[in-house]
Amino acid sequence: MNKLIYASRGGNTKKLALAVAKGAGVAALPVGEAGEISGVDTLFVGASVYAGKIDGSLRGFLGKIKRGDVGSAVVFGSAAGNKSAADEIREILAAQDIPVSDKVFQCRGSFLLANRGRPNEEDLAKAEAFAREIVEKG
Ligand SMILES: Cc1cc2nc3c(=O)[nH]c(=O)nc-3n(C[C@H](O)[C@H](O)[C@H](O)COP(=O)(O)O)c2cc1C
Repeated sequence: MNKLIYASRGGNTKKLALAVAKGAGVAALPVGEAGEISGVDTLFVGASVYAGKIDGSLRGFLGKIKRGDVGSAVVFGSAAGNKSAADEIREILAAQDIPVSDKVFQCRGSFLLANRGRPNEEDLAKAEAFAREIVEKG
């Protein structure tokens, strides 16, 4: 079983989450509604970057996942710049021996006057295709 959780304050990573969920054939769950994580093969994790960090509620949630309850994680998300949340998430999950894939979907997200309209339709189509490929080919 695969699962998708995300944290999105302004809606950009939520848009990506819905596209990734479509590609992966799972529901997109905000981290507050994620429920129990157990018996998950691939956990898709959607995260944005705020002052260089992921959202605190997501950090707390990931830190509580138990060893053995997730096979591996795949990160996707948005930020104003190039930085992705993958390194921080990799560091958190390493404590539970949960590997994070090198395959990351990252795109620019609108922020103030920057990146207007992003993620756009093209970003969302790419996010959906990314997830579909992960599920089909690993
Ligand atoms: C308070 C705040 C801090 C941010 N800090 C960063 C940052 O350090 N680096 C960056 O690339 N983007 C930063 N951003 C931009 C967001 O990562 C970007 O707008 C992202 O798409 C927001 O996703 P969301 O709409 O899902 O919350 C920041 C945005 C906010 C609101």
